[in-house]
Amino acid sequence: MKLHPLVKEILFTEEQIKERTIEVAKEIKSFYEKNEKEDQSLLVIGLLKGCIPFYQTFCMNFDFLIDMDFMVVSSYLGGTKSTGEPKINLDVNMSVKDRNILIVEDIVESGITLEFVQNYLMNKGAKSVKILTMLDKPTERKVDIKPDWTCYTIPKHFVIGYGLDYQEKLRNLPYVAVCDTDKLADWKW
Ligand code: PRP
Ligand code: MN
Ligand code: MG
Repeated sequence: MKLHPLVKEILFTEEQIKERTIEVAKEIKSFYEKNEKEDQSLLVIGLLKGCIPFYQTFCMNFDFLIDMDFMVVSSYLGGTKSTGEPKINLDVNMSVKDRNILIVEDIVESGITLEFVQNYLMNKGAKSVKILTMLDKPTERKVDIKPDWTCYTIPKHFVIGYGLDYQEKLRNLPYVAVCDTDKLADWKW
């Protein structure tokens, strides 16, 4: 496989991610079978756009009755506005009232997006809101949030691929890689 020139090192291949996701999907299945006996269905909400490849891998390997839905939430952190809470650009379509919800993310960094979405869904009457993330980067955390299930915990790397973008590009790399940040200064698409 020819690597993209911005790739410094592959962290996880497509095969590794799939294998790990299968493991985690089994844990999640037994959790809900054990703890939610009266409702054996889940509303799985993906946070676009980063979640897409992982959401697909997870759902296709999750042997459980699910409804699929999505949200787009933009965080102003790191953007031009430094204050203000995240904003919902696309809301969940289905009713969340009394539902068990699993949020699927590609990566948790500051945790601000997830804290906001979790509170938002609980306030709308969800029965429970749990979090599954492909990657957790706890070094960036700014709020006290801990994903319920994590495929991989990673150090302070700038990562790309498998949904993770640099300037909206490279989401479709079939692996998670460390970005070669030395090349970014004069990088032209
Ligand atoms: C990224 C990532 C997470 C969020 C994590 O999304 O996909 O959703 O940031 O950051 P946080 O823990 O600091 O809130 P982004 O806003 O870049 O949108 P995208 O998913 O469309 O890339
Ligand atoms: Mn995202
Ligand atoms: Mg992004």
